[in-house]
Amino acid sequence: MLEDAERQALRRALEIAADPAVPLGPNPRVGCVLLSPAGDVLAEGHHRGAGTPHAEADALSRASAPLTGATAVVTLEPCDHVGRTGPCTEALISASVGRVVIARRDPNPVASGGVQHLREAGIDVELDVPEELAAAAAALNRGWEHGLQRQRPLVTAKIALTLDGRAAAADGTSQWITGPAARDEVHLLRTTCDTVLVGTGTARSDHPTLTARRPDGSLHPRQPLRAVMGTGEAPSLPAVDGAGEEIRLLTRDPSAALTELFARGARHVLLEGGPTLAAAFLQAGLVDELIVHLAPTLLGAGRPAVADLSITTLTDRLDLELIDVTPLISPEGPTDLRLTLRPRARPSAIRPT
Ligand SMILES: NC(=O)c1ccc[n+]([C@@H]2O[C@H](COP(=O)([O-])OP(=O)(O)OC[C@H]3O[C@@H](n4cnc5c(N)ncnc54)[C@H](OP(=O)(O)O)[C@@H]3O)[C@@H](O)[C@H]2O)c1
Repeated sequence: MLEDAERQALRRALEIAADPAVPLGPNPRVGCVLLSPAGDVLAEGHHRGAGTPHAEADALSRASAPLTGATAVVTLEPCDHVGRTGPCTEALISASVGRVVIARRDPNPVASGGVQHLREAGIDVELDVPEELAAAAAALNRGWEHGLQRQRPLVTAKIALTLDGRAAAADGTSQWITGPAARDEVHLLRTTCDTVLVGTGTARSDHPTLTARRPDGSLHPRQPLRAVMGTGEAPSLPAVDGAGEEIRLLTRDPSAALTELFARGARHVLLEGGPTLAAAFLQAGLVDELIVHLAPTLLGAGRPAVADLSITTLTDRLDLELIDVTPLISPEGPTDLRLTLRPRARPSAIRPT
């Protein structure tokens, strides 16, 4: 059980860990708050990306008061290995902290073992944190954890579609199917992913900037890598000051594209279309989550939101599990629906042979 001061400290540690100035990518985001035995904040620190001090070391270096008997509140289990920096467990033990509160165990087999090491050193380790804070700590490093387990980035596909399932009108226009609230949400989504990916078809027809912008048009501090996939001609994305780097993935193989992105440090890819690319990733089983912005409008003709999946009979359908439905209300403009879905295993894929 946590004391009130520890709960507050954990909230703060989660907040500083999520600092938008910290790049996403191959390192986890971690925050640490040091509390005196009386519950006063002594120092706080966070990790700022590969090669920089870990959150615990950062906080310890900022503490001026003695730390004997202090509590370290951390969003992720302190590491127990020598990487580019020394083990955080040793740093906490040397500082004589008496208690460590941990919101999330480290799933990285190379770095885990921190809890055991701290306990062996006589430090009181608390892992029982409120569910809501544990969930926030897990969400903070969703892509990073996925990468450790699967050796590829997490893929969130986002599609804007009409009530009759169209992603574009017959003339190819699709800007904009949805209202302002849904479009603002796409920009926020881009800040939570390290890469935005589109096919050459979308690059040719929409000339998207693939930047993350605020409603006033200014750029968010964190911009995703902008990736265009396909083997044919496509124009460069529009140049925007402060936008993320643009790269071309000269392949039609979703798995090869993700391998290349993973090697570049990508851990969470936002797949923004179009219908051909969405179908290719769905068919390859490489969509982990689908976010649909469903607009209350009809086109009757035009591009289906997802291209041919080579499904000819109902038993081969690709079912999705509905996780959430939320209206996206625009003060001026139509209200859309956001559906969050997760692809299920296909019946044919689990049928005994
Ligand atoms: N409503 C929405 O959310 C949304 C989002 C995006 C786009 N759109 C609309 O979608 C339309 C464009 O659709 P699209 O399907 O042409 O766009 P796309 O999926 O972005 O691009 C398709 C192209 O990507 C390349 N490609 C890459 N991997 C592939 C694979 N595994 N299989 C096949 N091709 C692959 C191919 O070109 P290469 O010859 O270069 O290999 C293909 O022609 C536009 O009208 C746009 O406005 C709508």
